[in-house]
Amino acid sequence: MLEKIGRPGFETVSTPDAEVLRRLAELSARVPDPIIYEIGVGIGATTQAIAEMLDGIGQIVLFSREKDVSEVAHDLQKRGFGNIDARWGSPGQTYSGYHFELARGFAENALPRFDLAYIDGGHVFHLDAPATAVLKELCRPGGYMLFDDWTWSLEQSPTLNPQVRPQTALDYDSAQIKTCQVQLVCKVLMDTDTRFGFEGIHSNTAVYRRFDP
Ligand SMILES: C[S@@+](CC[C@H](N)C(=O)[O-])C[C@H]1O[C@@H](n2cnc3c(N)ncnc32)[C@H](O)[C@@H]1O
Repeated sequence: MLEKIGRPGFETVSTPDAEVLRRLAELSARVPDPIIYEIGVGIGATTQAIAEMLDGIGQIVLFSREKDVSEVAHDLQKRGFGNIDARWGSPGQTYSGYHFELARGFAENALPRFDLAYIDGGHVFHLDAPATAVLKELCRPGGYMLFDDWTWSLEQSPTLNPQVRPQTALDYDSAQIKTCQVQLVCKVLMDTDTRFGFEGIHSNTAVYRRFDP
């Protein structure tokens, strides 16, 4: 999977998220073995950069389709990174996904508390709202939740807008197509939660931090 990074056709998923790396650098200076969640792995561009920065310490817990999770984890293991948890990939059914794996893992008390979660999956409310509800409970005091693609919408997506993909207009109503759904998730679930503070938008990534009392 990692061999796709930088190849034609993969330009939009080939650059690691700069804000994730910046916050990770800050975290690594104060947390001995940070636990990092990535929700939506793509071809592993950000996962690889996180693994290189952690250099074997802490743990990276991946949530995405199971095939993608196992390929990215396998490639990183081959490069000597043994700190990848690849147990949480989701099956490919329409309504399967990271939201359900997070709920299942949380209900079974099988997921570790994290120091940083990077939420970069489907960017739609029906996936990211339940995922966020679970993630908030797993975030350690002083930890981060980073939401990518703050200004993304189905309407603006080059691949999912209804002109290019007519099925989108059957799957979503016009308000859902126009709305920046990541912003809606944050407005409903993050801005209303007094345990978290908003630290701004950087490179189109919204940063929330859990207060450390
Ligand atoms: C934009 S890519 C992630 C890019 C990656 N975070 C990076 O920075 O390199 C979005 C990912 O979310 C995954 N995804 C979208 N909907 C999903 C779902 N319902 N369940 C699991 N994974 C999903 C996609 O398969 C894709 O791997």
